[in-house]
Amino acid sequence: MPSLAGSSPEVQVYSRLPVTLVRGEGCRVWDEDGKAYLDLYGGHAVAALGYGHPALTHAIATQAQDLLFQTNAVHLQVRDRAIARLVQAAPEGLDQAFLVSSGAEANENALRLAFLKTKRSRVTALTGAFHGRTAAAGAITYGNAGWFGFPQAPFEVDWLTPEAFDAIETAITADTAAVIFEPVQGVAGAVDLSPEFAQRVAARCREVGAVLIVDEVQTGVGRTGTTFAVEWLGINPDILTTAKGLGGGFPVAAVLCSAAIGDGIGKGTLGTTFGGGPVACAAIEAVLGVVDEPSFLAAVRRRAELLAETALAAGVHRVTGMGFLMGLHVGQPAGPVRQMLLEKGFLTGDAKNPEVVRLLPPLILSDAEIAEFGTALAEVLR
Ligand SMILES: Cc1ncc(COP(=O)(O)O)c(C=O)c1O
Repeated sequence: MPSLAGSSPEVQVYSRLPVTLVRGEGCRVWDEDGKAYLDLYGGHAVAALGYGHPALTHAIATQAQDLLFQTNAVHLQVRDRAIARLVQAAPEGLDQAFLVSSGAEANENALRLAFLKTKRSRVTALTGAFHGRTAAAGAITYGNAGWFGFPQAPFEVDWLTPEAFDAIETAITADTAAVIFEPVQGVAGAVDLSPEFAQRVAARCREVGAVLIVDEVQTGVGRTGTTFAVEWLGINPDILTTAKGLGGGFPVAAVLCSAAIGDGIGKGTLGTTFGGGPVACAAIEAVLGVVDEPSFLAAVRRRAELLAETALAAGVHRVTGMGFLMGLHVGQPAGPVRQMLLEKGFLTGDAKNPEVVRLLPPLILSDAEIAEFGTALAEVLR
């Protein structure tokens, strides 16, 4: 056996922040030396309820004790309840759900449903998009050349530039199986789509019979101040995928679809071992029980506005995004700004745009925590 001396036992694919975290409470996390950080990155939009939220931890712990796992080969009461809750929270027309475990897996299955439904072979995606790293999700992720790795994409992709109204007709045709986009392009740097553009794309999909898929892996489950961001855009997709915040930290994802699509799928067409497991379902039920409430969502909208105003007052040039998916355009390289914020005890996210600091905080971030961040940000940007 060749010597592995000196190499890491973990495959090195991540650039990590120089912190080792050991625990969290509310919106704060602590490192191994006891230093506290306000987490404005939220584990990449996952920690929707922060850390140690009693409703979520109780639901997960109780379900883990009662029945840790069972597959889709059996009925589960907790799965029936979680799916009913999810479909109730979903935008109009999305009456069925298929549960999986990650965002890419949700998008992969959404595309498969579109191909099965239309029997067509092309997909239209937006420049700047990020949809995941599996074969189909990676194929519709913009700028994938450096990492895609597969010998070829599993289908033809047509790229449409956001807000290029004139290009919609040629990019979406009778050969298009599906059109997919994010309401706010998170990885690109919190780039929001206009409702006018989304509505024109949706209308074109109807015209040519293409399936409209909205990727709410990052924007879903309250992050934009509505349960799903399509409410802001005023569109009704045929399929909606969501993940990150849905389990509040437990790995879950969902494909929501219209009955017209779901009813046409034969048994055995889709499947997964872990998706829809009991603990995942208990997490969904607990998260939606907190987030999918008008007063909770109104508080997210108000505090997101406060966070944007605070950032602008601290010297940020421009704020993009929706709700608590926010791009702070700092007018200088974001890397050193993030490093200085880290030293002051604030975790933030990066973006493809090198001058954007991305914020994806827990949805429970308080006014006092926003003020604390504003003070630090003003010092860093000064
Ligand atoms: C919009 C969007 N779609 C899909 C994904 C992929 O999700 P996952 O990493 O869970 O596969 C991500 C991840 O960041 C995302 O932001």
